[in-house]
Amino acid sequence: MWRDRRFLDLVGIEHPIVLAPMAGYVGPALTIAVSTAGGLGSVPCATLSPDAARAEISVIRQQTDRPLNVNFFCHMQTPPDLVRDAAWQARMAGYYAEYGIEPAPASPSGQLTPFGEAMCALMEELRPRVVSFHFGLPEARFRQRLKQVGCLIIGCATTVREARWLQAEGVDAIIAQGAEAGGHRGMFMSDDVTTQVGSMALIPQVVDAVTVPVIAAGGIADARGVAAAFMLGASAMQLGTAYLRCPEAKTPAAYRAALAAGADDATALTNIMTGRPARAIVNRVIRELGPMNAAAPAFPGAAAALAPLSANPKAGASGEFSGFWSGQAARLARAIPAEELTLSLARETLARLAG
Ligand SMILES: Cc1cc2nc3c(=O)[nH]c(=O)nc-3n(C[C@H](O)[C@H](O)[C@H](O)COP(=O)(O)O)c2cc1C
Repeated sequence: MWRDRRFLDLVGIEHPIVLAPMAGYVGPALTIAVSTAGGLGSVPCATLSPDAARAEISVIRQQTDRPLNVNFFCHMQTPPDLVRDAAWQARMAGYYAEYGIEPAPASPSGQLTPFGEAMCALMEELRPRVVSFHFGLPEARFRQRLKQVGCLIIGCATTVREARWLQAEGVDAIIAQGAEAGGHRGMFMSDDVTTQVGSMALIPQVVDAVTVPVIAAGGIADARGVAAAFMLGASAMQLGTAYLRCPEAKTPAAYRAALAAGADDATALTNIMTGRPARAIVNRVIRELGPMNAAAPAFPGAAAALAPLSANPKAGASGEFSGFWSGQAARLARAIPAEELTLSLARETLARLAG
């Protein structure tokens, strides 16, 4: 079976396939399907309240007792900046006029609470096997509490420097997120997207720099990619975009259609949707205001001015104002049930590695 068992034995799963936690798009059905197939099911909690996170985990635990990866953002919160928010909203004036939208006056940017006391207490109570973090790590006192109740901690690195720092802070495994990845860059030591590293170069260099198991993420969507990441030294692979077309994903129809049509060069790294760099399918607003724009309010504030446009039936219908996150391998994603996808990825990868 699998030659590299480091991550499998650490976490207690059968196959080295991790369902990427994807806030807003992964719900219990997808998590349960991947867990049932023997992969690691993830529960994205970045946009959930503690009560909603508790409810999701309870639904999952009624169906499976396999290990779970519960995921959080731990970005630095910035003070509200009304002047910046109003200036950003003013940039949308032409779009609002075009679609007859009367936006509410700019108010302090919507905040997204990073991992803190309430979620830490919930994790102490629910004790998932893995707690993973995007955008760095929370304070050491929270991590100590998680470790005390037996949770493994996983962090995400986009450079060797970030990986070394995560290991020095005591994480149990490290995600190496290549520049091909869909969604937000986990980068936390730099904000320069032009120097972000592709998976082929990043994975072996992170593997060489740390002793903990490395999980490859970014642009992996079929068994060829999973096998290649193994050859580069990764012990497991985290796939996001590949699962967005599964029937269990909460991906809306227009987003599914855009993924199905996605060419290799259909995406770009952009900060205009939320204020932090993320890889998304290029749409009208990214073309016209981005992809990178220094005026975008800090994460997640940039999203507020776009919200009335993406919610508008006419303006928003085909995603021209929405963040349709996607990696560069969307074309390889298959619209099949997630359990079948996970099992076939495992089977086909093993066949390739044996050949
Ligand atoms: C729609 C979408 C949402 C995402 N949301 C999260 C999230 O909530 N937490 C997180 O750690 N990573 C998130 N990511 C990043 C993934 O964990 C992972 O790095 C990425 O999907 C890997 O690249 P791939 O999409 O090419 O497989 C998201 C990615 C996508 C595509």
